Amino acid sequence: MDKFVIQGGAKLQGNVRISGAKNGSLALIPATLLAPGTYRLTNTPNLRDVWTMSRLMGSLGAFCELNGNELFVDTRNITSFEAPYEHVKKMRASFYVLGPLTARYGLAKVSLPGGCAWGPRPVDLHLKGLEKLGAEISLEQGYVVSRAEKLKGAKFHFDISSVGATGNVLMAAVLAKGTSILTNSAIEPEITALARMLVKMGAKIDGIGTSILEIEGVDDLKPVDEETIPDRIEAATFLIAAAMTNGKIEIEKVNPYHLTSVIAKLEEAGCIIDVNGDKITLEMEGKPIATDIITQIYPGIPTDIQAQWTALMLTAEGNSKVVDTIYSDRFKHVPELARLGADIDIVDNSAIIQGGRKLSGATVMSSDLRASASLILAALVAEGTTEVLRIYHLDRGYEELDKKLIALGANIKRVKTDII
Ligand code: UD1
Repeated sequence: MDKFVIQGGAKLQGNVRISGAKNGSLALIPATLLAPGTYRLTNTPNLRDVWTMSRLMGSLGAFCELNGNELFVDTRNITSFEAPYEHVKKMRASFYVLGPLTARYGLAKVSLPGGCAWGPRPVDLHLKGLEKLGAEISLEQGYVVSRAEKLKGAKFHFDISSVGATGNVLMAAVLAKGTSILTNSAIEPEITALARMLVKMGAKIDGIGTSILEIEGVDDLKPVDEETIPDRIEAATFLIAAAMTNGKIEIEKVNPYHLTSVIAKLEEAGCIIDVNGDKITLEMEGKPIATDIITQIYPGIPTDIQAQWTALMLTAEGNSKVVDTIYSDRFKHVPELARLGADIDIVDNSAIIQGGRKLSGATVMSSDLRASASLILAALVAEGTTEVLRIYHLDRGYEELDKKLIALGANIKRVKTDII
């Protein structure tokens, strides 16, 4: 198991290329189940969750090969319709195969994902949506079993705007007979990108990019090649890292439009930001201004940068408040940040952060993906040495974060350790 050993104090400077979006890629890969054939998915991030999804696809009979950032997928020989617990327990996004398998093969058996590090993560909307399209859903020995001879178009309203449920139900609706209207659909860029790939495959979808999706089911889809959109969360993490270290960096190959709310908040915090095509430059002098955020569905501030923003606010002048309206209990990073000297109070779904306290190096433990990012950010500004354990959480969703940070001047070593 790896840990990071980080010496704080370096200013980040230089250029960094942002990878393809983890959450984008995890939606595109299962979409290949909808049309047997071969696919080239470019700009695929080479990271652990993509490997897990590829293994899951392999267990269904697909062939997946990742060469650098190009994922080749062959779905001509699907022989199993079961997503076993060993994959789903590692990654909840495995649940994405439920919709496509039901739609294309009439049967899916997917292990029910349990809770996650920061609390319960229900899948009721995925199931209700599929039932509305005519799937028969049962729960058998910890598995969701979904059966349908032929799905039928229907109207479905998502009670909560859910990225995963929208992706799943959308992938099912494109092969259903007749028209489906999905309201309160998620409009996160990763879902819009999925819808665009489905259209390229021959699906008929109106309202892409809005919360009302109208889908006219088709009998067949065809395989395509597709490029994964840039990772807006990775991009935000680097911008925050530069802001915290009083650095100046340029991030490349991003879609600044996807980062509008984050850029606005960074500017409010005193960062000087310049957007030029697919590049964003951030420069920060002095301490950030204490700036509150409230996480919201897109185009609001993503919950996936809440932990990193909390780390940024530790370096601010004054107190600030971070409210998470998506996951009310996503604060596992807070006790670990406290080990570095942070003073943060959790009140309901809010973190109240006292800025300006001195942070000093300590050994801290990652509990989940974005929590580990926030610990690394805090370590970059802590005095002395910080060891961040359980880096496998980070490796799930960031492509070579350590190497990219080192190229920007950070002092980080990846070390094998027996401590777990
Ligand atoms: C996706 C992202 C994750 C991000 C989250 C919110 C992927 C692989 N993961 O997760 O990084 O943090 O969006 O932007 O894309 N909910 C229900 N019932 C359901 C489904 C969801 O009540 O059936 C609730 C959840 O508890 C949560 C909210 O809806 O409060 C949003 O969750 P959702 O958008 O579904 O998150 P994921 O798709 O799991």
